Amino acid sequence: MNEQETQQLIRDSIQTHLGLLQSFGVGSFLHRHADLPSESIATTPSEPTQETSAPTPQQDSNNHADILQAQSLEQMSALLTDCQRCRLCEKRQNLVFGEGNPNADLMFIGEGPGADEDAQGRPFVGRAGQLLDKIIQAMGYAREEVYIANVVKCRPPGNRNPELDEIAMCMPFLKKQISLVQPKMIMCLGKFAAQTVLDSQMPISRLRGNFYEFEGIPVMPTFHPAFLLRNPNMKRPMWEDCKQVMEKLK
Ligand code: URA
Repeated sequence: MNEQETQQLIRDSIQTHLGLLQSFGVGSFLHRHADLPSESIATTPSEPTQETSAPTPQQDSNNHADILQAQSLEQMSALLTDCQRCRLCEKRQNLVFGEGNPNADLMFIGEGPGADEDAQGRPFVGRAGQLLDKIIQAMGYAREEVYIANVVKCRPPGNRNPELDEIAMCMPFLKKQISLVQPKMIMCLGKFAAQTVLDSQMPISRLRGNFYEFEGIPVMPTFHPAFLLRNPNMKRPMWEDCKQVMEKLK
């Protein structure tokens, strides 16, 4: 990598980090967009690359503001359905908004749609989703009673990890979903959900098992069901996390 490329990489990573901070409302040091309420400010756009042909948030800022002012999840979902804010829109079949009880006490947040979710437009419907269904049942809930969402709403191609700028672009929508559902408790499934919601770099193995807060809502980070499928011996500690959540929800 030459010096110019290194500098670009550093610039990009600073921009995406600022974008993440901003999406959590820690953005007073960033430029405010003159005609948008501060909550609806888009993340700092990265310089266009060949890969990113999607419109920048500025180009569809009206729709962006509408989404963030939506009064219901239904309204929000309808407005977001054709989202083209990041490169993930290029290969997706369906945007996976999230689903469940709009007034759920318990909200689960995963990483992003996989192939099955992309095909059906619904979160956690593949193998990991079947395990999540069992966990939800074991916790005493029906799937329809909780709310399930993801950090990114479109499938990263080939199930790669979501990138920082993709997460930053989608985060205001997750934040808005949380504010509409107003759950009593959030369970973050896996590293990406936990680190994004908690704005932490700590590994999931250290985060899990402890309560944190997101905007006053208790958050329990735990292992992702897909990780449990590969590491069944981790089901027991995950269940300990669930028990703590059940206890607190009582
Ligand atoms: N994994 C996730 O993180 N989310 C889904 O919706 C499905 C699998």
